[in-house]
Parts: sequence; C-alpha cells; structure tokens
Amino acid sequence: RPGDPCAFVIFGAMGDLARRKLLPSLYNLRLNGLLPREFAIVGVSRRALDDAAYRDAVTGALRTFATRPVDDAVWSEYAERVHHVQGDFEDPATYERIGAALAHAAQKHGTAGNALFYLATPPGEFCHIVRGLGAAGLLGESAGWRRVVIEKPFGRDLESAVALNRELASIVREEQIYRIDHYLGKETVQNLMVFRFANGIFEPIWNRRYVDHVQVTVAEELGVEGRGDYYEQAGALRDIVQNHILQLLTLVAMEPPSTLAAEAVRNEKTKVLESIRPMSPEDVLRNTVRGQYGEGYLGGQKVPGYRAEPSVSPASQIETYAALKLQVENWRWAGVPFYVRAGKRLARRDTQISIQFRRPPLLLFQEAGVEGIEPNRLDILIQPEEAICISMKAKRPGPSIQLQPVRLDFSYADFGGLPPATGYERLLHDAMIGDATLFHRADMVEASWRIATPVLDVWSTLPARDFPNYAAGSWGPAAASELLARDGRRWADRE
Ligand code: BG6
Repeated sequence: RPGDPCAFVIFGAMGDLARRKLLPSLYNLRLNGLLPREFAIVGVSRRALDDAAYRDAVTGALRTFATRPVDDAVWSEYAERVHHVQGDFEDPATYERIGAALAHAAQKHGTAGNALFYLATPPGEFCHIVRGLGAAGLLGESAGWRRVVIEKPFGRDLESAVALNRELASIVREEQIYRIDHYLGKETVQNLMVFRFANGIFEPIWNRRYVDHVQVTVAEELGVEGRGDYYEQAGALRDIVQNHILQLLTLVAMEPPSTLAAEAVRNEKTKVLESIRPMSPEDVLRNTVRGQYGEGYLGGQKVPGYRAEPSVSPASQIETYAALKLQVENWRWAGVPFYVRAGKRLARRDTQISIQFRRPPLLLFQEAGVEGIEPNRLDILIQPEEAICISMKAKRPGPSIQLQPVRLDFSYADFGGLPPATGYERLLHDAMIGDATLFHRADMVEASWRIATPVLDVWSTLPARDFPNYAAGSWGPAAASELLARDGRRWADRE
C-alpha cells in the first residue's frame, strides 16, 4: 500500500544525501505506486531559494541522479508539491516557518498533519534540529503522526551514543525515531530472515553443533572518495563494523522472533548484540586486526595511499581496514567464532556472509585429493552479486573416485531482475507506514557500541606503527589472514 499521506521534510535540502538518494528514492516509490497522492516535500536549508527555485533544483537532481528515466508527466504532478523553507537550524524562527509550511501542506496537499523529518545533515546538527522541532511544538502528535529519521553515525562511542539517545529521548518518544541503516534496505539482507525462517531445512543445523564458524565480509574497492574529513573522524570500525556488519551478524545469529512485529524482531537482534562479550584489552590485542592502505593498483590504475588522500593527515592513525574475531556467548553459538572484516581499497567489492560447517565426522575420501577435506559452506552473497550458494563435494565422472567441489546456486537474477534502485526505497516507505523493523533502536545502538568501544579505546592508545600495512588492491593486511590461520581457518575469498 502507498505510504500514509504526509509531508516529507528534508533538513539539508540540497545536500548530497538528499540529491543522490532521497529524491531519486521518492521518485522510484512514485513509479512503484507507493508514494501517497497526498504528499509534499519541504526542503529546509540555509540557502535563499524560493519554492520555484527549489523545484528546479529538485528536478535537476532527479535528472542527474534518478536510477530510472524521469518521466515528466509523472514528475510534474509532484513538482508542485515541492516547497522550500530557508533558515538556520539553530534559529527558532526557522521552525515557525516549517510549522507554517506543514499547515499549508495539510491544507493544500491533504497531508493530514503527518510529517516525517529527515535529518540529512552532519550529525552535529541532530540535536539542534530535534530541539528546535520540539520547542516549536512540531513533534506533538495531536494532529497526525510526527517521525524523525536520522542517519548514522549514532554517536562515536558508547558514551556519546548514550548521551545522544538521552537527549533525543528527552524531546521525542523512541517510537517516533527511525535510525536508518541502508544495509537493511538491501534485498539480499532482507532475504536473510526469509531464508532462515521460511525454510525448514536450515534451522536444525544452524547452531554450534554443525557450524564451525561464520564470516562476514564488507570489502570495498572504493577509497574515501573525497570524504577524508569525515573518515578521519571515523575509520572502518565506526563506519562499517559497528553498524552494518553487526546488523548482518544479528540476522545470521538471532533466534526466530515470536512474530514479525518490529519490537519482536528488534528484541531478538538486541539479544544477539548483548551476547557478544566486550573484549578486554588483551582480547583486543589478540583478536582484532587494523590496517591502512598504502598506494597500489586497482583495475590497472595506480591509486594513492590513504595518507595521500585529500583532507587526510600524512601521519593518520585511522584504520581503513578492521577484522575482529567475536564470540556470541549464548546457547546456540557458544564456541563458534564470528570473524568479521571491513576494508576500503580491497581487491574487489564483495559483501558476503559465509557459514562454514563442520567437517564430516569420518573422512572416508581422504586420499581423493586435498579438496576432499574442505567442509561445506553456505555463502550469502549480498553485493555486487546477489545469490545464495552451497558448496559441496561431488564425484568427478571417471573410473576412480576423484572429488570435485561443486556449488548449488540460487541467484537473484533468477527473479528476472528489478529496476535499478537506490536501496533507500523500502526504508523510506517503511518510515511512511510506521514500520520500524528495519531501523536501529536506542538499545541496539548502545549494545553495538559496547562491543566496538573497547576496541577503539585500545587502538587509540596504541599507535599502529606499521601503517600503511596493506597495498590498495590487495586483500588487506597479512595479520588478518593470520587471525584465522592461527585457528586453522582461512577467509572465504571467492576466486
Ligand atoms: C556507508 C559508509 O555507510 O556505506 C561508506 O559510510 C561506505 O564509507 C558505504 O562506502 C558502503 O555502502 P554500500 O551500499 O556501497 O556497500
């Protein structure tokens, strides 16, 4: 069903996120019949733009960034619902003007008093904006719902995350806050729960008795792409592991929820995060690896090292690669390591989850080649390829027993492919119908920081003397392979 009638208010009306993702996503929702007819876009920024100028800017952004060709007939119907409010986010008068724009939207476009405030701004602005909205009475729900969408980073360590949550909670109810994680909008990620809980054959083996270990990889070819300022404050652990990777991990490790209601699902995910034991300083030294790329080659092109990127310190200690061995200490997973890694400028873009099963109890075919002892693996490929594969052994045709690895594959391409999308469509639509299942809850954010913060603390006190320690275009620092080799295992890099 289409989202509820509402005004979609974008703070940071002309920012990168708004132009590249939000506006193209709204357009795709419209094409898919999922945008309500009673709708308005209210952009808020410091720029002196009237409605007409902002409309032109929005149309221009769509022409540049839409993932599907812009059909003027479809868009023109919405263009007249685009408004702009100029103002500083710390000025109370701005919020009065937003209030007036909402009243106008309700009256002219039938938005029924509902409003979704999307904070597409740097995180330093979150509290100013929410305070401003609260003080102007714009978060009260007496005449329609009011929701606030925020993007990571949700704090930069446990203490700041708790402070941010507390500040938000003093102004707005937790149920009104939608903390977005674009990984949870990916089709293959959404499929994880379906795969696990709509198929009976996996559940009985999805535990410590049959699973040897789990790997989660988020490998990127991209470097920091002109975001040096941001990345110098973040690093791979904050940028990817604390949020996207831990979310993927919860989807693999969680218990079946009692229902698909948002709170039931989020309760189970939170329990997983709470079962991951925070590391002691000794654990950090033993069970984590950090890396930073030096210059190297990608696709035959020479690329600079991280320290030579714009806005990056030539002596930067920020990690562009992180690998961790985590333990989920509950009855299902005790003793099963979860190896996770994220890195920039790696050999290939590859996001995947691998479930490695135990070896058969008796190796009858030991003489039939070393492959004979490779255990079964289930790979959930998230991007760029979207697929689920089980690797097994089969007998190669011939007079003697020779084993050969083979794969059972399901590819998303089998569905015939979907029109190109930004990945935000599902999440924006969910926010418009009030389904918070795919969004982070305050306690999940804090539980994730409880895992990441002790690692960051040790890393920040111990300089990494070996940076840069991997070449752009490689698979990361040697120490990351050693982390697994020590346990007699290796990363499941696909050839
Ligand atoms: C973002 C990070 O959250 O995710 C970026 O801030 C990263 O640094 C991006 O490049 C990766 O997203 P995707 O969807 O391309 O895997």
